[in-house]
Amino acid sequence: MSGIIFFKTANLSAAKEFYEGVLGMKLWKDQGKCLIFQQGSMKLGFCEGEVSETSGTITFVYDSATEVDERYARFQKIATGKPEYSEYYKIYHFWAKDFEGRSLEFQCFMQPEQQVKVNTSLDILNPDKSKPKLLLTRMIPENAVEKLKQLFEVHANTAPRNLSKAELLHQIPEMDALLCLLGDTIDKQVMDAAQKLRVISNYAVGYNNIDTDYAKSRNIAVCNTPGVLTESTADLAWALIMAASRRIAESDRYVRRGKFEGWEPLLMLGQDLHQRTLGILGLGRIGEAVGRRATGFGMKILYYSRTEKSPDYSATKVDLETLLRKSDILSIHAPLTDETKGLLGARELAMMKETAVLINTGRGPIVDEKAMIKALQEKRIFAAGLDVYAQEPFIPQELLDLENVVLLPHIGSASFATRAAMGDMAAENAIAIVKGKQPKSRIV
Ligand code: NAP
Ligand code: GLV
Ligand code: GLV
Repeated sequence: MSGIIFFKTANLSAAKEFYEGVLGMKLWKDQGKCLIFQQGSMKLGFCEGEVSETSGTITFVYDSATEVDERYARFQKIATGKPEYSEYYKIYHFWAKDFEGRSLEFQCFMQPEQQVKVNTSLDILNPDKSKPKLLLTRMIPENAVEKLKQLFEVHANTAPRNLSKAELLHQIPEMDALLCLLGDTIDKQVMDAAQKLRVISNYAVGYNNIDTDYAKSRNIAVCNTPGVLTESTADLAWALIMAASRRIAESDRYVRRGKFEGWEPLLMLGQDLHQRTLGILGLGRIGEAVGRRATGFGMKILYYSRTEKSPDYSATKVDLETLLRKSDILSIHAPLTDETKGLLGARELAMMKETAVLINTGRGPIVDEKAMIKALQEKRIFAAGLDVYAQEPFIPQELLDLENVVLLPHIGSASFATRAAMGDMAAENAIAIVKGKQPKSRIV
């Protein structure tokens, strides 16, 4: 989350002097009767007005506690409150009084690993000490929880937020099994804290959040949920393809802003899909399902994967450069690995057509996000449709400011039926390992 809350002031020039001079904020926009100051990701707006607002809330995103502390230090002289960490919302609050005596409340969101408070009490859904213990890092559909309860004593995070690293570390020592999300980083530190852990069951197909080599060396099984989410994710990739190419989200915003004044010859012109070329980066399960849908649009299909594939439709394997140069729509479906991280950087993006549309439902870090933003700002590519980001859930303001991107909150597999099927599979995987049986999908 991020944003600007505007304050009314009777004295714009004093505001300018104070926020620029005393606090050292940069004047970001000067619109005459409205000034917006910026410092890092913090933005503060002031509009000319007779009645001063007495307080307001400003929400910013910071990458680290250090950054928050730096901001706080600047305001401390005039602060009326101490910074506080809210364990529930991961918010770092502080209060300050500005030069006109108005109190401002700041809410600074931080990344989970920067949190300081640990919620030590999780809900035990079915207390039964005779059962092995499973840590469920977030509530998943009921069918899966019921399945888990039959074998495990389920220690569940029932709060509407993910666990922090500190919380994971606190819970993991006693656990025999872990059912986690793609947002939970399961690294050496977490596994070292686990004394009894036998299985890490990821509620996702992608498992780049887990150090699988280390799990293997510790003899901890890692499982995932391939297949059951393939078609739903391919559907969503197509929703993005159509939305970004034909400017659907932008048009919706336009209508809601009351701007539609009748049919216009040059209104919201976009890119056709029929008869054009779809490039698939990573022709695996999802990539193949995305390609199959393209045959209905009469599209030519190119793909780049390390090995030759044989889908049941016509698709040509090309090298990455050809894929970039020839695709009208480029859709990313490779996993995030050491090899694919930053695979599409400034150089690669520059090879794409000016009319091209980039779709990413794979993983954010496969694309250099800064370079992509620049390409979109400079209209060196036509549009982008994104379900994933470099540092989820953080989305740079520059991306939010662009009209030619469609932004989704990582919902590729988010249909009722698919999330239930993923739950069944993730639960069954954990159960199988603990029972000494073969799970449906095991990575190591
Ligand atoms: P998959 O069947 O394993 O397909 C991935 C394909 O990528 C493979 O066929 C692989 O082919 C190719 N690949 C791997 N490394 C590559 C490289 N270095 N360069 C080019 N291609 C490469 O996996 P999937 O089930 O389709 O899922 C793909 C990914 O989608 C997941 O890993 C996950 O990150 C993402 N996903 C996102 C959502 C969402 O909600 N947005 C939902 C589900 C999945 P080769 O081995 O021949 O290279
Ligand atoms: C979702 O992104 C998944 O990997 O399942
Ligand atoms: C558009 O609505 C048309 O009739 O061409």
